[in-house]
Amino acid sequence: MRFDILTLFPEMFEGYFTHSILQRAQDAGHIEIGIHNIRDYAPGKHRITDEPPYGGGGGMVLKAGPIFSAAETVIDGAGSSDIPVILLTPQGRLFSQEIAAELACEAHVILLCGRYEGIDERVRQHLVTDEISIGDYVLTGGELAAMVVVDAVTRLLPDVLGAIGAADSDSFSTGLLEGPHYTRPETFRSWQVPGVLRSGHA
Ligand code: ADE
Repeated sequence: MRFDILTLFPEMFEGYFTHSILQRAQDAGHIEIGIHNIRDYAPGKHRITDEPPYGGGGGMVLKAGPIFSAAETVIDGAGSSDIPVILLTPQGRLFSQEIAAELACEAHVILLCGRYEGIDERVRQHLVTDEISIGDYVLTGGELAAMVVVDAVTRLLPDVLGAIGAADSDSFSTGLLEGPHYTRPETFRSWQVPGVLRSGHA
């Protein structure tokens, strides 16, 4: 599966995507992640990506042009016009394990990270095909939300969890059915591992 992320802050993704399961999933070829700086698609010397909205209102709004250019570059490069373009926004549908499973069926998604007060409405009307929120709170931008979506979806892809997933794919891949876990020592600060788990453990 391929994720293309459109953002004004590409550096934010480096740490998260270069560790643990996400790095291994990329190394093994299960996922590919492209990070695209929207600013690179803004024209002119100053590469302006935002400006005050028509009618005023105080804040800054992301301009349509650079976002369309970035998304269309990805879409044209993929040679496919039906790639979902998902805007990360607090107004979106609430992300869940079910939505992660839905996205895991796609071969390719574009994740658009919103910022500031908002985004030119024409992006939502004519480019975006879905809007996702990761919770009922307002973040500074969609970057964290995009990381959450990539992580949750990647875990659901066949073979990503490897041997762990094969042991019990439902509980290990969703994390929803698991009981409590304990590790050695058997007694830690007087708190014991439950007897039912101790029996048969060497
Ligand atoms: N951008 C800002 N807040 C957000 C949220 N809760 N979910 C997704 N994107 C966001």
